[in-house]
Amino acid sequence: MTRQHSNKVLDTQVASVSPPTPDKSCHAAAMGTDASATYAKSAQIFSHNRRFIPGGVVSVNRAVQPEIVFIKGQGAYVWDADGHRYIDYHAAFAPHLLGHNDPYVTDAVISVLRKGASLYGTGTTELEGHLAELICRHIPAVESVQFLNTGSEATYQAIRLARAVTQRDHIIVTQGGYNGWHDDVSCNLMTPLDVIGPRISPGEYPYIPISAGIPREHQRLVHPINFNDLESVEYACQKYSIAAFITEPVLQNLGIVKPAVGYLEGLRRLADRYGFVLIFDEVKTGFRHGVGGYSRIAGVMPDLAVYGKALANGYPIAALGGKKELMDWFVHPELSKRVLLAGTYNAHPVPAAAAIATIERLLMNDGEVYRHVESLGQKMQEGLEKILRTLGVEAVVARQGSAFCIYFMDHCPKDWHDLAGHHDFGFDEQMRRKLIELGVYFFPVAAKQCSISFAHTTEDIDATLEQIKNQLSEMLR
Ligand SMILES: Cc1ncc(COP(=O)(O)O)c(C=O)c1O
Repeated sequence: MTRQHSNKVLDTQVASVSPPTPDKSCHAAAMGTDASATYAKSAQIFSHNRRFIPGGVVSVNRAVQPEIVFIKGQGAYVWDADGHRYIDYHAAFAPHLLGHNDPYVTDAVISVLRKGASLYGTGTTELEGHLAELICRHIPAVESVQFLNTGSEATYQAIRLARAVTQRDHIIVTQGGYNGWHDDVSCNLMTPLDVIGPRISPGEYPYIPISAGIPREHQRLVHPINFNDLESVEYACQKYSIAAFITEPVLQNLGIVKPAVGYLEGLRRLADRYGFVLIFDEVKTGFRHGVGGYSRIAGVMPDLAVYGKALANGYPIAALGGKKELMDWFVHPELSKRVLLAGTYNAHPVPAAAAIATIERLLMNDGEVYRHVESLGQKMQEGLEKILRTLGVEAVVARQGSAFCIYFMDHCPKDWHDLAGHHDFGFDEQMRRKLIELGVYFFPVAAKQCSISFAHTTEDIDATLEQIKNQLSEMLR
């Protein structure tokens, strides 16, 4: 059975997100009740928070339907305020590679606080030196590293550093990629096709802001192009004085859009030829796919790379690292060339301890974490493919290790236009919302990555597959 594709790109902002033996035996569909009764306590908390917080959420990406307030996370599960338990595949937009509240990481955090660590705000600490050494030792692309609190801060600094070193202002970004909330990169995410127009190659797209308040003068310095499109990189390099190209090496804000064979190598060649700084945004790929980052898997070295999310299994810390000759511009002897990097909370001892513990855990027992999540990922992919085949649903499963996405189209997308033109966004979102009702939390925005953690078990995967099979059968009826 093949459905008609609606091809409708939903109006999303950045998005870019037991068997269910729920503690309470029921979610809305299971109970046959309406959502307001199922999530009554959540609704109450939202209503309270809206009085004091614009929109009731502190990150616009968290504003989704159904509105659920979570109050606890442990291992592979999260619990909501109304007592429902969910198998979690959102992982807070992917940081929880080890699972929620991993005991090894939690112990490290408690221990560092008990020892009297505080935010001294002066000088260096042994902790940050230890973390820096671990990162430089294990990531071939990183000779020297700095710490910030969020991925956005780190991508901001990477671009600023690239501009300083090259003394050029223009940058290239990927249509459909997400690199944070600042002016250089708050653009061209899931841009509706009727806004952006047809695919252009070679060429560039207009800067389409995803935020108000970005100066027009600044917008003209940013050139969005397709993923997997070396001709357009070359086009931009010939037309502008390009300081940097920042891109996720796998587009994980559109699910899992992989680089074509030779694409990343081609970027390296073009960076060398045109003298721009190649920045891999590994905020999602780094640590989730290997301690060495995706650059190690691909065997392609960027000039700079940015890490966050799985680096500290959910604690707020990010890293910007790369070639020492570039990183040294943060302490350039000539004041006019020195790049300002500062931050009251940089390498705060709590997230720094969490990051060290996370990396230690990821390295333990010869990489058992990665073996486990790979085997669960494979089980999930094979199970999904079997279900889709049996039900006759036109869909494919894209996966990189523990991260996967179902695309309701007949091939894995190569870029945003391919995805926007073929994926059935409406069907995807409907499936996600139904699964939530059944105790499986796929972030309820179409084409968003699902993330498996070390805490998930084969039973969790089996239970999830069972729910997906039931749900898809129901939706196709
Ligand atoms: C690839 C990528 N880069 C950068 C960011 C921004 O990181 P943060 O939300 O920590 O500022 C994100 C966040 O989702 C991301 O997915």
